[in-house]
Amino acid sequence: MFSSKTYNDRREVLAKNLNNGKILLMGNSQVPMNYPSNWLRFRQDSNFLYYCGLDYPDLNLVIDTSSGESTLFGNDLTIQDIVWEGERTSIANMAEVSGIQSVLPSNQLSSFLLGSNETIHYLPLYRQDQQVFLESILNNNKIESSKSLIINVISQRSIKTEDELSEIESAIEVTMDMHKLAMRQTSDGILEQTIAGKIEGYALQNGRELAYPVIFTTRGEILHNHNHNNIMCSGQLALNDSGAESPMHYASDITRTFPVSGRFTDLQKEIYNIVYNMQEAAFDYCKPGNSYRQAHLTASKIAVEGLINMGIMKGNADDAVKEGAHALFFPHGLGHMLGLDVHDMEGLGEDLVGYNEESNRSNQFGLAYLRLAKELVEGFVLTVEPGIYFIPHLINQWKAENKSSAFINYDSLNKFVDFGGIRIEDNVVITSDGYRILGPHIPRTINEIEDVMA
Ligand code: GLY
Ligand code: MN
Ligand code: MN
Repeated sequence: MFSSKTYNDRREVLAKNLNNGKILLMGNSQVPMNYPSNWLRFRQDSNFLYYCGLDYPDLNLVIDTSSGESTLFGNDLTIQDIVWEGERTSIANMAEVSGIQSVLPSNQLSSFLLGSNETIHYLPLYRQDQQVFLESILNNNKIESSKSLIINVISQRSIKTEDELSEIESAIEVTMDMHKLAMRQTSDGILEQTIAGKIEGYALQNGRELAYPVIFTTRGEILHNHNHNNIMCSGQLALNDSGAESPMHYASDITRTFPVSGRFTDLQKEIYNIVYNMQEAAFDYCKPGNSYRQAHLTASKIAVEGLINMGIMKGNADDAVKEGAHALFFPHGLGHMLGLDVHDMEGLGEDLVGYNEESNRSNQFGLAYLRLAKELVEGFVLTVEPGIYFIPHLINQWKAENKSSAFINYDSLNKFVDFGGIRIEDNVVITSDGYRILGPHIPRTINEIEDVMA
């Protein structure tokens, strides 16, 4: 945990900025997997972690905006709980280490909230059990989550402090080893699941959780491919998108793509270098005041220029990007915020996090998936993750529709049927005059990757 002052300060800022009513921050409960006492891994709610750092189930926090004081609701374990789960620190001690002024048992939460006629602010719910619990404590009064609370939480959580950056960098330290291990142990004839297991095992051996399920696949064109059933063959590319959490649950989110054989083919090198150049161009765009939408479009133009050089695309690169023709090969956004969540604060509303009055979300295929578009601000942490993919279903559909045929040489795509996809992803913080790539260097150039795999 951070110091009690850190959490107290965060809560005070929130109370002062919101300035009316009571704020309910709900902690998470255990979620059953297949019967009530067989639980999924416990993951505390990220907003709850941000404002009090307490990583235990069945807690709730209420912040009174008029006094600025907080009350923690929870129950100490019963003797039966202790018999099965072991002991844990008391609710009173949890409150103390988090700088919380008062504690009350969970069954007083409802009367505490409903006892006055003040507004009750709460954040959007993303679990069915939260919905049921909230309705029960509010006596089935269906009230809406609070936009003003959401906006204030986003504005606080968007700017990362040095302490938070250290957490993210500690996550990337472990992630670097996960990626090097994957590069070193991949070879012809190995099952993807062997490497996926080693990646996850490495995180667990080091006392870490994963920030999201491992993507380790030779079918990298499937963007969030969680299938690991293939046997890898020389000539294929393996895409590894995996990241550990820090001890306080800050995420890392790193992707590397490398050849199963340890040596890139000439064709793989050509595409790899385009993606590398997309990422470099995007890095250059990362500075306060620049919009991330423009970084995305700049990277998209680099993709088109590279693909024109290879004879895959044609025509004017600016016009191709304007029409969205590049999205056949780069169908996702350049990146997203990163923090306590891998897609940071996405549960609060992607548009509220990544867009503002000057940056409406496009409905064009590809650009519509851009999660972060607004102007960058010092202290933002985000991913820069361009990619080029050859997605047979999408190519077939566009070709059948003759879509963007002024910009795409469909006949050139036959040799890419089994190519897969290449993504390179790193995590950066926006500084006062630019950006800094977070964490230790993870092999990224063709030579660096081939050296690690030699
Ligand atoms: N790891 C999921 C993503 O890159 O957004
Ligand atoms: Mn990723
Ligand atoms: Mn990402």
